[in-house]
Amino acid sequence: MKSIKRRTFLSFLGKASLGAIIVPPFLMSCGNNTKPILGSDVSKDKLNRLKNIIVEGLSPSDNDDLILAKGLNYHTIIKWGDQISDKDTFGFNNDFTCFIPLDKNNPKDGLLWVNHEYINPLFVSGFDSNVYNNPFEHKTREQVDLEMYNVGGSIVRIKQQNEVWRVVKNDPYNRRISAKTPIKLNWDTPVKGKTTVIGTLANCSGGITPWNTFLTCEENYDGFFGETVYDENNNPIRKPSTHCAWEKFYDYPPEHYGWVVEIDPRNGEAQKHIALGRFAHECCTLYELEDKRIVAYSGDDHNNEHLYKFISSKPGSLKEGTLYVADTINGKWLPLDWKNQPQLQKKFTNQTEVLIRAREAAKILGATELNRPEDIEIDPITGHILISLTNNYQKKDYHGSILKLEETNGKFDSLTFKASTYKAGGEESGFSCPDNLAFDLAGNLWMTSDMSGSAMNKEGKPYLPFKNNSLFVIPRFGKDSGKVIRVASAPIDAELTGPWFAPDGKTLFLSVQHPGEQTKELTNPTSKWPFDEDNIPKPAVVAITGDLIEKMNNLNIING
Ligand code: FEO
Ligand code: CA
Ligand code: CA
Repeated sequence: MKSIKRRTFLSFLGKASLGAIIVPPFLMSCGNNTKPILGSDVSKDKLNRLKNIIVEGLSPSDNDDLILAKGLNYHTIIKWGDQISDKDTFGFNNDFTCFIPLDKNNPKDGLLWVNHEYINPLFVSGFDSNVYNNPFEHKTREQVDLEMYNVGGSIVRIKQQNEVWRVVKNDPYNRRISAKTPIKLNWDTPVKGKTTVIGTLANCSGGITPWNTFLTCEENYDGFFGETVYDENNNPIRKPSTHCAWEKFYDYPPEHYGWVVEIDPRNGEAQKHIALGRFAHECCTLYELEDKRIVAYSGDDHNNEHLYKFISSKPGSLKEGTLYVADTINGKWLPLDWKNQPQLQKKFTNQTEVLIRAREAAKILGATELNRPEDIEIDPITGHILISLTNNYQKKDYHGSILKLEETNGKFDSLTFKASTYKAGGEESGFSCPDNLAFDLAGNLWMTSDMSGSAMNKEGKPYLPFKNNSLFVIPRFGKDSGKVIRVASAPIDAELTGPWFAPDGKTLFLSVQHPGEQTKELTNPTSKWPFDEDNIPKPAVVAITGDLIEKMNNLNIING
């Protein structure tokens, strides 16, 4: 059978504008170190088979289990409290995952980074907010220390043998980064008097760099040490933390949190990138330009906050360059540049202050308020940028949408773009509250949902028909192309987060975060997943494998 080239292939499928086929090589190495499989020559016979893939979706479920569509199965790789070494344990509420093979020729052995976003005091430190409603009064230093240890991230070496991924306990690479780890600032001016700060926290989603380090993003940092707000005369006011009360024992400035943090997997060295701005960073998605300068997209997951992009002025830098914020109505990137923006000079004394107070600076410039921008992915075939807008309850946007950005002429360093809605949530489309996104090797889009635990499965709330949070796939090919198909349903109260494909496309790593979050008494938890001997719910990272993953990644077809 005659082979046809990638370009012809896409034209045959009629899916992509041929002018804009983009395969950022390192983005594809987010799961693998090879070109996407569709980049190979593909026969017409194989094309026809690609179009015939059928995914049997799941109905919504409120069962307490991780339920998977036909053709998928899972095993747990690691869960909260597991020893990763003789001295360290796996943290709580796992979110973003990122796998980097140690040897690019062996996709079955590498380092897994996992974010630990926040803690549930009832489980982690035993502080029971049903008994004591004021943590400032009743939390002990020992409890705070335990909580601080359980956020941040973990690096674990994992290997796949006989189809099962296992942690290599005590591997020299295994380590914890926590709210106690000293972290350097990648900036020349100290922030609140420091060039090295203590800890990382609120680590939600993240990203990967072209030089194969992990990015972990500090999202709802105000829950831990509070926030500094400013009155009408621009005087600072310290707002207490929303729930953790850690400042009772450790008076660390809120300005030390809310950044993108880079972790070198080989030695655990960490740095916070001030140039990327300070806000509730959901994720950070990088693109390397031809001249090796970096473009970094990041959303501020908060009602009526903004979408940002940093463009470096030097190759490989996350320090030298300009931070922009999106005006999605006029399709413009607005520079948060103190030197050249008189409006910013009126309120802030220098560029460091602009970056620390990025939200205020963005509003002064007229950035567009968005409905909680969460995860961001670059479509490897079209080069379009997809951004989950989870919801905005106050604005009655209950189900959210996915925003699509097309940079002018497909250039990622362009300062203009076109914005449109790629997909809106709701009963008709079958999903609500989009959060994490991941493209597989064939360009199918995988998406998780984040309906809040307090509203999920509740009478009178708009989320009732959707039941538990789920994982969906949006196939790129075939008769179901563009449909949103549910392929996994989470245990009670849980959220599925951090989807990441292994380099060979045969495993989807996935976090199961906060099962049983609404639990009031440990003896009567709302979930018992993952059903271990302790009889309490535990956040855990699973490996999803099976025929359906391989079919969606087109492995059988390409190799067959
Ligand atoms: Fe931590 Fe925006 O989810
Ligand atoms: Ca998230
Ligand atoms: Ca979320």
